[in-house]
Amino acid sequence: MGNGQTQFPTVRPRRLRASPALRRMVRESQLHVDDLIYPLFVTAGEGVRNPVASMPEVYQFSVDEVLNELEEVTELGIPAIDLFGVPLEKDLEGRHAVADDGLIQRAVKAIKEKFPELVVMTDVCLCEWLSHGHCGLVRGETILNDETLPVLARMAVSHARAGADMISPSDMMDGRVQAIRSALDGAGFSNVPIMAYSAKYASGFYGPFRDAAQGAPQFGDRSTYQMDPANAREGVREALLDVAEAADIVMIKPALAYLDVIWQVRQRTLLPVAAYNVSGEYSMIWAAANNGWLELERVMMECLTSIKRAGADLILSYFSKRVARVLNG
Ligand code: PBG
Repeated sequence: MGNGQTQFPTVRPRRLRASPALRRMVRESQLHVDDLIYPLFVTAGEGVRNPVASMPEVYQFSVDEVLNELEEVTELGIPAIDLFGVPLEKDLEGRHAVADDGLIQRAVKAIKEKFPELVVMTDVCLCEWLSHGHCGLVRGETILNDETLPVLARMAVSHARAGADMISPSDMMDGRVQAIRSALDGAGFSNVPIMAYSAKYASGFYGPFRDAAQGAPQFGDRSTYQMDPANAREGVREALLDVAEAADIVMIKPALAYLDVIWQVRQRTLLPVAAYNVSGEYSMIWAAANNGWLELERVMMECLTSIKRAGADLILSYFSKRVARVLNG
């Protein structure tokens, strides 16, 4: 200190920013197409391609249209998709969620037949399949935990039977990773990994998703099962519990408002960490860009790079195709 060796004007960080090649050499975080997981909404019917009003370039696809969409997705080199169901029929038990000839099960079969190399993940949660829109079974206005676990487990097994490569539970019931793991193992699917939504916050950023998947709760909210946005330590605890229940990948969701949680979970586990760049994060950028207030692709790349920098190995994003196009030049 003060000897002129360790500070300005001897020290000049700008030296390593002087050219594109130098900047490339010292870049610490790099987004890669292999990091991307593309979420897709599957609905009933044929030839259906319904635009989601609050999410530009996002659609609800019938199974045949998903196959068309996947031509482009696989062409771009995106390794994985995550399927969400938008069923026309809902009930109080989730019968359509666990049916071997259900919407997602049929979609998985058709996709794996045509794109055997693609990693097909499936969302396991009941909100889209239950008429009240909560993520678990209910009694009165109580969301039941233990009663929900076997239904989630059956749903996971039926997805695996259809050919799903990875199961992704997003319901936030306690103990569901363990329940799903033991059901998968018992049914002969011990090689099917689980990507757990470990720290899933009760977030306003899911607004546009509820438009896309039509699973908004009909009473109350999700704050008795999703996490309080104020809690980071609890997010780490949830992730470590899922690690102990044999999750293969732990996920934090949403991503951008929870970069500190991603960072802390990254420090505390050796498992791959994923982050979900959710619908509201997507729509906000689009809305501002459509107003001419910011540059869409520049901000998109900055946000996803920041998620990577915070410690995520994998990113679920509706921007996946655009990001892949940018990365592929
Ligand atoms: C359902 C589920 C939600 C999302 C993923 N799975 C909505 C919610 O919990 O209300 C949100 C995804 C997004 O906003 O992009 N459990």
